[in-house]
Amino acid sequence: MEWPVEKLLFKSWREKLWSRVRGPEVLEIGVGTGKNIPYYPRDVRVTGIDLSSGMLKNAKKLLAQDGNDRVTLKEMDAQNMSFPDDTFEEVLGTFVFCSVPDPVLGLEEALRVIKPDGKLYLLEHMRAKNKILAALMKTLDAPLHFLIGVHIARRTVDNVEAAGWEILKVEELSCNGIFRLIEARKPLSKMKESSNQNR
Ligand SMILES: C[S@@+](CC[C@H](N)C(=O)[O-])C[C@H]1O[C@@H](n2cnc3c(N)ncnc32)[C@H](O)[C@@H]1O
Repeated sequence: MEWPVEKLLFKSWREKLWSRVRGPEVLEIGVGTGKNIPYYPRDVRVTGIDLSSGMLKNAKKLLAQDGNDRVTLKEMDAQNMSFPDDTFEEVLGTFVFCSVPDPVLGLEEALRVIKPDGKLYLLEHMRAKNKILAALMKTLDAPLHFLIGVHIARRTVDNVEAAGWEILKVEELSCNGIFRLIEARKPLSKMKESSNQNR
């Protein structure tokens, strides 16, 4: 069902997001069926996690076809990750924080596992900027979540800040700010905290 929108819009946004990644250690949160696998740069190591074993099964099939041997897929909750502090240079997610039950907790975990000058890149849909559209999305949020398990009216940029990240850039991609690309980094204060803990 997503095929037309994937080809027309998401493909170029995924390319844009992954072209910024430098690695060497990258975490993808919520890999789902592996739609980002074809965009992974070949010179980085990607660890992909997802809560759903069914989604991961499909992602593993796609990974086998893609033949990228620098990728590890694991079943894990983004809200409670088993990685040590300061593990990754970059953390990415596409259309994920609309469905993570507690998005701020997941984003706090992402901040914990990122290295001191690491970056977060998110491609997400969220509440529109237009007040009328935003109100309509808010009204439809609960019934749609009940039906398809996705929140359509989250304030994901605010959630990223609430988790302690420093926002560097928010690009509005289309539809009145519904689709945005967020770039954030670990703030200096958090870098000092983690380097003190590492002493
Ligand atoms: C809408 S899908 C997006 C999949 C993929 N990133 C894409 O761009 O097509 C959201 C994914 O997030 C996963 N997810 C939701 N909550 C999660 C959590 N707490 N930890 C890890 N993955 C989670 C879901 O299982 C699902 O695969």
